[in-house]
Amino acid sequence: RRSAVLVTGGAGYIGSHAVLALLDAGHDVVVIDNLSSGFRWAVHPDATFYQGDVADSALLGRIFKEHRIAAVLHFAGSLIVSESVGNPLKYYHNNSETSRLLLSAMIDGGVRNIVFSSTAAVYGDGQHGLVEETSPTQPINPYGMSKLLTEAMIRDTARAHGMDYCILRYFNVAGADPDLRSGQSTIGATHLIKVAVEAALGRRSHVAVFGSDFPTRDGTGIRDYIHVSDLADAHVLALDHLLNHDGAALTLNCGYGTGYSVSEVLDSVDRVSGIRVPRRMEPRRSGDPASLVASNARIREALGWLPRHDCLDAIVQHALAWEQAMEARKVG
Ligand code: UFG
Repeated sequence: RRSAVLVTGGAGYIGSHAVLALLDAGHDVVVIDNLSSGFRWAVHPDATFYQGDVADSALLGRIFKEHRIAAVLHFAGSLIVSESVGNPLKYYHNNSETSRLLLSAMIDGGVRNIVFSSTAAVYGDGQHGLVEETSPTQPINPYGMSKLLTEAMIRDTARAHGMDYCILRYFNVAGADPDLRSGQSTIGATHLIKVAVEAALGRRSHVAVFGSDFPTRDGTGIRDYIHVSDLADAHVLALDHLLNHDGAALTLNCGYGTGYSVSEVLDSVDRVSGIRVPRRMEPRRSGDPASLVASNARIREALGWLPRHDCLDAIVQHALAWEQAMEARKVG
């Protein structure tokens, strides 16, 4: 039997792009997704699909019996910072408890490799400089804490049970597959670039700018926006690294090392769409840091990762093209 990789959350935004990159690289792919926010159509037909929850240990046991799983790429989880502030237990369940059950099922099934979707939110506020993997982890919202707990579980479990891992800390993921095979379709999305392209297409009246009194160059929040396809590539490299290096234990930032403010992002959307997107200043959202920008020296060194879409306008261009393609599909 050929070995395969199991992708949890493979029907979601980032997971579905990772499935494409894995298939493109010649891997056999199995997906588990409960479709709570993902879409069946987002999973490439060449992947084997199981609809179900990662917390369903019996289902995971069955998948590990039916396939020879060499590694798990664990994307499934919840990811909205502001939602986690109002409903922390949802986050501690979906992100921490469910990951504990996954690790336990992996031990039982003899699966020894995991790539985990962590987040820049584990750092708290990046202040002004570039955040390094060795920077202190002091989450300022339950989302970041729920992921940090899982990181700790993975490191401890790896040490105790001889697992290998690569923890990827994503900064702000945006854009869409350049061939438009997938994109961000999340219902009621709250992410800046998604919201802004929806506004450029007239589906929203305006973009709310959450906070203009941050200690940043123009007062709006600064983030490091990374193209989803570059992030998907990082997963393929991480997987190959795990499969070829016994004892691998990596924690890596995924970002470009360049920060853009909310105003700068909106200017990019204006430029790319040719439309002046209406914006309204509103108070800060709770749990939002002023600035989070990655140092990416470590992932470049450890995995030989080379971003291919390191350009804000290109990210926005792909996000806009995806939004238009979705619109055309609905009309057609
Ligand atoms: N923002 C607005 N208006 C909006 C949406 C966002 O002004 O309508 C601002 C936010 O205040 C923030 C920036 O745009 O300054 C980015 O906000 P997003 O909601 O797009 O993303 P977050 O930075 O809150 O969080 C995202 C992911 C997390 C991840 C984090 C890492 O959702 O999973 O990036 O930096 F952890």
